[in-house]
Amino acid sequence: MTARNVLVTGGNRGIGKSIAEAMAAAGHNVVVTTRSGDAPEGLRAVRGDVTDSASVDAAFAAAEELLGGPVEVVVANAGITKDGLLMRMSDADFDAVVDTNLAGSFRCARRASVGMIKKRFGRIIFISSVVGLYGGPGQTNYSASKSGLVGLARSITRELGGRGITANVVAPGFIETDMTAEVPEDRQKEYKAAIPAGRFATPPEVAAAVLFLASDEAAYISGAVIPVDGGLGMGH
Ligand SMILES: NC(=O)c1ccc[n+]([C@@H]2O[C@H](COP(=O)([O-])OP(=O)(O)OC[C@H]3O[C@@H](n4cnc5c(N)ncnc54)[C@H](OP(=O)(O)O)[C@@H]3O)[C@@H](O)[C@H]2O)c1
Repeated sequence: MTARNVLVTGGNRGIGKSIAEAMAAAGHNVVVTTRSGDAPEGLRAVRGDVTDSASVDAAFAAAEELLGGPVEVVVANAGITKDGLLMRMSDADFDAVVDTNLAGSFRCARRASVGMIKKRFGRIIFISSVVGLYGGPGQTNYSASKSGLVGLARSITRELGGRGITANVVAPGFIETDMTAEVPEDRQKEYKAAIPAGRFATPPEVAAAVLFLASDEAAYISGAVIPVDGGLGMGH
């Protein structure tokens, strides 16, 4: 195993924290971004808001200082939902979700690519969602932001694939975090009935897929969408 310099956005809780912990446990050098700048127990953190390019730049610079070199693996995990029916969705709610989930991931990939191109090595991993390709009622903004990550990863793959850089998408289904705790109980029941595995997943089950995509063994996988959804969407 080659120990890599890893930056995970939104690493203070939920899936991001679990990814960071799994990466650190595997021996990688890990820094997370948090909006507060506070570090979760056992992890190093830098302050970063993905909706602000200057903040992303500063977070990478601070992370590179802590890591002692360029970020080799970036996990664009930070994300939000602002659900609402199409006819009632405000411009502000649409824009906020796309700005965080899609443009925020783009800002991180763009900043990461500078060091990765020099190093001729990079792993860009976008945390999408089953909803990106499957769709979800009341989630036009979220679904559009998450499917956009597929185009982002595939275009990066075509642009930078010859420089040792891969860009992939992990599409989790329903994972037990603060985000799914907000889903109404009747909707949670409906989803569980539709999931072949019959249950929601835990954050470490998503982290395992990310860990693999970051590994040397995954060098020939790029532009892929890896569902971690118990069979709910199966990539559709
Ligand atoms: N949970 C699921 O079932 C599920 C399923 C599919 C995909 N996902 C995706 O997985 C990712 C993580 O989800 P989660 O369930 O772990 O969510 P979560 O518990 O709500 O955590 C979201 C994380 O993103 C951070 N964040 C939000 N806006 C940010 C911004 N502008 N700049 C920087 N950080 C920001 C949050 O920081 P604060 O603590 O400061 O708010 C938090 O660390 C998201 O992209 C989500 O869409 C989740």
